[in-house]
Amino acid sequence: MKKSSPTFILSYCVFLIVVGITGCSEKSAEETRPPLKSPAYLEEATPEPVVVSEKTRETYQWYCAQCHGIQGKGDGINAKFLTVPPRNHTKAKYLETRTDKQFFEAIKFGGLSVGRAPCMPAWGNTMSDSTIHELVRYIRELCQCEAL
Ligand code: HEC
Repeated sequence: MKKSSPTFILSYCVFLIVVGITGCSEKSAEETRPPLKSPAYLEEATPEPVVVSEKTRETYQWYCAQCHGIQGKGDGINAKFLTVPPRNHTKAKYLETRTDKQFFEAIKFGGLSVGRAPCMPAWGNTMSDSTIHELVRYIRELCQCEAL
């Protein structure tokens, strides 16, 4: 039979190989394409959300509450001895006029660094930056406010 002649089988095999190669080569080109990724600037614009840990809530009670009060109302036991009253951390009306960066700097470098009273101490040598970031978040929780 002509159909099953060796030439036919051979050319059929060649046909299969060609299809296989072209088919595969197209597919592998697709596979080697790099995965879609958002540009770096977008990733920078969405920082990880800061979660306030239990440890940081305790830190506030240990280091901040004697002036700012247990509930952050500015009525800690030391408050009456200070020439400038400690900031009330529940007062949204004022706190929403301040940025997170200003809070961070006030805590890390002290009141003076953000044009506030020096009786707000600097905590940069006592606390890590990440703890300070969490304290900023904690103050935003206390005031139930964000910077406008
Ligand atoms: C010795 C008392 C004292 C302690 C302790 C203290 N603060 Fe203060 N803090 C102040 C005073 C006083 C001010 C108000 C400064 C002003 O209004 O000029 C202030 C202001 C602030 C402000 C507001 C700055 C602004 O933008 O007006 C932040 C935020 C703050 N304190 C965070 C903290 C945190 C967090 C801690 C604990 C790690 C802490 N403070 C511990 C006295 C204290």
